[in-house]
Amino acid sequence: MSAAGGGSAAPAVRVNGLSYAYGVAGYVLHDVSFSVPAGETVVVTGSSGCGKTTLCHCLTGLAPKALGGAMTGTVSILGDDIEPLAVPAVSKRIGMVFQDPDNQLVMTTVEDELAFGPENLAVEPEEIRRRVDRELGRFGLERFALRSPGELSGGEKRLVALAAVLTLDPPVLILDEPFAHLDERGRDRVRAAVLDLSASGRTLLIVEHDLALVDFAGRYLVLEQGRLVADTATPPALPAYAAPPRLEVPA
Ligand SMILES: Nc1ncnc2c1ncn2[C@@H]1O[C@H](COP(=O)(O)OP(=O)(O)OP(=O)(O)O)[C@@H](O)[C@H]1O
Ligand SMILES: [Mg+2]
Repeated sequence: MSAAGGGSAAPAVRVNGLSYAYGVAGYVLHDVSFSVPAGETVVVTGSSGCGKTTLCHCLTGLAPKALGGAMTGTVSILGDDIEPLAVPAVSKRIGMVFQDPDNQLVMTTVEDELAFGPENLAVEPEEIRRRVDRELGRFGLERFALRSPGELSGGEKRLVALAAVLTLDPPVLILDEPFAHLDERGRDRVRAAVLDLSASGRTLLIVEHDLALVDFAGRYLVLEQGRLVADTATPPALPAYAAPPRLEVPA
């Protein structure tokens, strides 16, 4: 294993021969391999149920460390195989904003939500305060600091979830359908935040169906029934992957 954080030449993410099954229903990822250089923004796309979220959980170690199941192959973040690492050690390297922020927001105030991650990693209180203020400021969330995350709108919740992950300063960040269930205003706010993160050189993996929202990405990975079927620099013709098959009716 390399020194903390891995050598600078190591890719931010390297997945090699990854297969994963939640349980007896069988494998939902099949022999997936790819790597992502540091600083790249990559979109992961494909139809509902093709395994995008599962892949994210394998990258953060939640699968199989917390979710159980059977995994073969390897996942390395910043040069380190995550298999022997505890979940908190992995979360310093890679963070994830869940598809549904309600599954992620657990504290009674926004401020406590942002402090929760670094507190669990025993970061010094002054440093936690600095990071919480930094992220509140980045997303214009200062006025919500003492509000309950549960009272906020969908877009605001998504920003709080993003801010809470960023207080851990993970060099690699996964956003699982960050624009889902948002109105136009919420989408615009989240998109502006994501664009900033992408431009700032953080390694980003964004799970998204609507490729128009992520046209700033340099690369697209397409999953189909748990297999990586395309790895391309140009946006793929998604309807072929995302929409249910259409019946061809002869004229
Ligand atoms: N906790 C779980 N236990 C068992 N099977 C699961 C679990 N979560 C997902 N699956 C199954 O794994 C497969 C992949 O699901 P996954 O959620 O990764 O797909 P997805 O591409 O993220 O879909 P969506 O676009 O709807 O979010 C599906 O067949 C799903 O039913
Ligand atoms: Mg999903």
